[in-house]
Amino acid sequence: MNRTSTTQPTPSHLGPDSSMLRARSLVVSYGRTAALRGVTLEVRRGEILAVTGPSGSGKSTLLLTLAGILVPDAGEVHFGERCITAENESSRSRLRRKQFGVLFQFGQLVPELTAEENVALPLLLSGRRRGVAITAATTWLDRFGVADLAKVRPPEMSGGQAQRVAVARAMVTEPEVLFADEPTGALDTLAGEQVMTQLVRVAREADTTVVLVTHDARIAAYGDREVVVRDGVLPDPIPADEASVSGREEGRS
Ligand SMILES: Nc1ncnc2c1ncn2[C@@H]1O[C@H](COP(=O)(O)OP(=O)(O)O)[C@@H](O)[C@H]1O
Ligand SMILES: [Mg+2]
Repeated sequence: MNRTSTTQPTPSHLGPDSSMLRARSLVVSYGRTAALRGVTLEVRRGEILAVTGPSGSGKSTLLLTLAGILVPDAGEVHFGERCITAENESSRSRLRRKQFGVLFQFGQLVPELTAEENVALPLLLSGRRRGVAITAATTWLDRFGVADLAKVRPPEMSGGQAQRVAVARAMVTEPEVLFADEPTGALDTLAGEQVMTQLVRVAREADTTVVLVTHDARIAAYGDREVVVRDGVLPDPIPADEASVSGREEGRS
């Protein structure tokens, strides 16, 4: 892991080798639409980074690029020592399976499977035995307060319940980085805040770095730090410690 040269004090939950993801001069276009126009960004180990900005500003494109799902037209993404934008698709897909977790607005649970089977699925797909996968799934459902839904199928759940199951599924592989794109976007305020409270608490416990895309200021407030994308650009990177906001201690206890 590269050391960052900073003289700023480091928040207590961040170690000295704190750079997790670094993106440099990212450019992404869809045909004539320039979605990212030179974005440089660092995500620190263990932080919850809120990426905000108006609709169409490039937030989702940035998340997909950081997660190695989308290859930029120019620029680089580094994960630790690896330059993932230089890697081939199979190598990036292995990285996504093992070290990254992804969560979207609609959790995309499999409607025919129970909650525990949905959460076990990523482990089953990576070759874990069924008993082991179901046991892990039960543990993660419990962490998100939905253990009682283990045998329930998504069509019988509320939106908030389904999204908690979806977060449990995104976390069951214990990813180093969780990429969440508007994870509460389909929920009402109360359900959204419940999902976020638990997501933040569990991410802290598991020492998971979170990139949280949202257009909602209330949801962004769960982050340690916020960056705002406008028209495919970010303002000059601010050192993480200067940009961090004190008093955002939700979910740390
Ligand atoms: N698959 C796509 N094809 C064409 N244009 C796209 C596609 N995805 C996004 N865009 C455009 O790229 C810009 C950035 O989109 P996006 O990253 O989805 O922004 P946000 O997530 O902030 O709403 C927008 O102008 C959007 O219309
Ligand atoms: Mg989006």
